[in-house]
Amino acid sequence: MQDLLDSALARIAAAQTADDLEAVRVEVLGRKGVLAQLSKDMGKLTADERVARGKFINAAKQALESAYDAKKSAFDHDALAIRLDSEWMDLTVPAPGVPPGSLHPITQIQWEIEDLFRSMGFTVLDGPEVETEFHNFDALNIPADHPARDMQDTFWLDGGHLLRTHTSPVQVRGMEKLGPPLRMIAPGRVFRNESVDASHEHTFYQLEGMMIDRNVSVGNLIYFMKTLLTAIFKKEVTVRLRPGYFPFVEPGFELDIRCLICGGPGCPVCKQSGWVELLPCGLVNPHVLRKSGIDPAEWNGFAFGLGLTRLVMMRYAIDDIRWLQSGDLRFLRQF
Ligand code: DAH
Repeated sequence: MQDLLDSALARIAAAQTADDLEAVRVEVLGRKGVLAQLSKDMGKLTADERVARGKFINAAKQALESAYDAKKSAFDHDALAIRLDSEWMDLTVPAPGVPPGSLHPITQIQWEIEDLFRSMGFTVLDGPEVETEFHNFDALNIPADHPARDMQDTFWLDGGHLLRTHTSPVQVRGMEKLGPPLRMIAPGRVFRNESVDASHEHTFYQLEGMMIDRNVSVGNLIYFMKTLLTAIFKKEVTVRLRPGYFPFVEPGFELDIRCLICGGPGCPVCKQSGWVELLPCGLVNPHVLRKSGIDPAEWNGFAFGLGLTRLVMMRYAIDDIRWLQSGDLRFLRQF
């Protein structure tokens, strides 16, 4: 009996894993285990022998159970230690946080120009992106049968509406709303129905400007345009003025700047010409003033339409316009 007990205790002691131990438990303490064997022939014993056997069995049961419990709790303790080790985390480590965003480069340049013109007494106006045919074309001296309508490939909507092809309709809204004398700029998004390449987008940004007063001259226009370009590029840029045709100005000009990407020899942005058309402008056509209820005998003015998108490309030497609306964070994080 003592041998049976000793070998059972030895098997418990030898268990290497929790699974081993469980198997040993079934063998030793289970229904067909050592204790069951010890009780097997009780019926054949005398009363005294039975008492002695009973005591032995009780002591054996206790010895086996406590050996098992000790071994089991050692395994449990090890398993817990392993889990605590692998699942531990330092709750005092600061969270990584959200990386800060930044303003889109077009917004940045727009706000700079707004600040500049505000400091010179200009009001910043906003206008609708879905415009009427009247504001986008007719009021700007571009009637329905006028060939100038073909200069701007238009997204037409129902009911005489369209996606504005330029910010110039905000000139009309400014004249209607504020009357002369008037100094206004209007930044915003414009749309053209054209195929996209490195220098053309269907959606881009312009900034319109208009000044109406008594005796406004081309000299005034040039002064404001030079002030603008010096502030933006923070250096002297080479410019040239060419005659340009826009039905809402007379005379009209194209102000070009030397391509800041290639510096002259030619690249895709300047279409190999070395010059970039940046600033169409001119003196407001008297028809336009009259259409908005302003007397051209008393008032005149200048207007300009700055390509904000193109300006950003020049400033940061971006050689493909498609980056600007790509939403690509690798691009945007640089600003
Ligand atoms: N609206 C013209 C365009 O998008 C640009 C323009 C030309 C605006 C001459 C003006 C201007 O204010 O005077 O092509």
